[in-house]
Amino acid sequence: KIYYEGTTFNKIPATTTNPTLLEQHAKKVLSSRAYSYIAGGAGEKSTMQANRLAFRQWKLVPRVNRPMDHQSISVNLFGQNYKTPFIVGPVGVQGLFHSDKETGVAQVCAELGVPYSLSTASSSSIEDVAAANKDGHRWFQLYWVHDEEILLSLLKRAKENGFTVLVVSLDTWTLAWRPTDLDHGYFPFYQGLGNEVGFTDPAFRAKHEKNGGSTDDIIGMAKAWVEELDDKPHTWEQLDFLRQNWDGPIVLKGIQHVDDARRALKTGCEGLVVSNHGGRQVDGAIGSLDALPEIVEAVGDKMTVMFDSGVRTGADAIKALCLGAKAVLVGRPVIYGLAIGGKEGAKSVLESLLADFWQGMGLAGMRTIADCNPSCMRRINYPG
Ligand code: FNR
Repeated sequence: KIYYEGTTFNKIPATTTNPTLLEQHAKKVLSSRAYSYIAGGAGEKSTMQANRLAFRQWKLVPRVNRPMDHQSISVNLFGQNYKTPFIVGPVGVQGLFHSDKETGVAQVCAELGVPYSLSTASSSSIEDVAAANKDGHRWFQLYWVHDEEILLSLLKRAKENGFTVLVVSLDTWTLAWRPTDLDHGYFPFYQGLGNEVGFTDPAFRAKHEKNGGSTDDIIGMAKAWVEELDDKPHTWEQLDFLRQNWDGPIVLKGIQHVDDARRALKTGCEGLVVSNHGGRQVDGAIGSLDALPEIVEAVGDKMTVMFDSGVRTGADAIKALCLGAKAVLVGRPVIYGLAIGGKEGAKSVLESLLADFWQGMGLAGMRTIADCNPSCMRRINYPG
């Protein structure tokens, strides 16, 4: 469809369809601080690089002469049908990149039938995102605050606003060493950006006032909210509390080690995201895709294993599905689209990714997601 419309000039995509140019285009429109924040990673960015290298070392083996008249890319996750296996991953502080921010991206996700994951570190409130994503699928990503009253308040708001899946990020109990941010002396939360979920939370506001703070003082509020988020790791046992207080699927995000996946299974949580946070947390780690096969092998028949970190093309998503992921989350590309063209830019990136995926699956002879399986994959390291 994009080809035909493109050739008749009916529709010029709001941003480039070339995934490798997205970052460069975004760089032109963003301040250097905002650009460094999204494009940056932990340490010398070696985990970020490994994420891409891992994709290059897995190769697809296409099939031919297969009927494609009923090609379908729909999936079922936690009993819910979704049109595609793509999910917009939780990315905080979207107001830093464009004034359309989370509400804009959530709106276009609803238009495309793609689930939107709202970060706890969001520039839009839970309520505003729910209104913008009215007929869409909403997942809530929790930064697991230690204060129980605030935690319960966040869970209650998410539930009341139609967020169905709780995604608990375990890899970000404190922020990593990110040299580009440090060199810019920059952490957007301290400017009040990315704190809207906290700022609008009644339990947080009450605590802040009780501690002598004023809810009119943005910087004071921001500091207090960051202290709630940035603390110490939880234990596996503490997941019982979340389990008891969330009536719906729980997905643990940030799993890389197979023993953690096995331990996660015992918590009764329904899903995992094999993710290294897009290489933003631990430097010098393996590419996330290389963690996937072992984890699928260990728990894939009992938990819904999903994947993120480094997905840039349709082929990347096909590879992750062939290695056993049930869905993929996309982070930076959608936000580069947001930066370049607002919500229409984010929509254009998502549409291109979906079209590339659909086309790629069809050409590789994969009619349904079930056809994406390890028989169509080889691991080959072509030198150079
Ligand atoms: C993130 N990510 C993230 N994850 C999360 O659980 N909560 C969050 O608030 C954020 N915030 C965030 C901000 C920015 C600027 C980026 C780039 C990423 C991680 C995100 O959900 C996802 O794991 C990665 O982005 C996936 O990697 P790619 O697709 O960016 O390579």
